[in-house]
Amino acid sequence: MNKKDLFNLAKDAIRNSYAPYSNYNVGAALLCKNGNVYKGCNVENASYSLTNCAERTTLFSAISNGEKEFEAICIVGGKNGVITEYAMPCGACRQVLSEFCGDDFKIFVGINENDIKEFKLCDLIPYSFNKSKLGE
Ligand code: THU
Repeated sequence: MNKKDLFNLAKDAIRNSYAPYSNYNVGAALLCKNGNVYKGCNVENASYSLTNCAERTTLFSAISNGEKEFEAICIVGGKNGVITEYAMPCGACRQVLSEFCGDDFKIFVGINENDIKEFKLCDLIPYSFNKSKLGE
């Protein structure tokens, strides 16, 4: 699974995005170290704050299916599903990803197959609060 394939799966996941309030549609595809891939989208709610971002939907789906080790995620999104800029993960998603993914976990954001940017999780959430602080 290369980054273009992951991008296309994330883009495909936008189709299921439920975002009637913001109309900002997001899809994500998560690659596990064993090669399995999970897709997910944002799921909004009339109470707004109960909205679940695409990244967390995807990660929780993978965790719920027994996955433990993660390699990379690709996030794609835009207003009315039109991808014009990189869909960077929000702070909440960075924190939740840091619970399960290592410093070298890759985060891809893309506009098209030939315009995909790559970040490492530790660069997007430096000095994170994590389980090591709790003596775990
Ligand atoms: N959203 C995501 O799915 N991922 C992010 O990292 C940022 C925001 C969603 C949540 C909401 O449905 C919409 O984008 C606008 O905030």
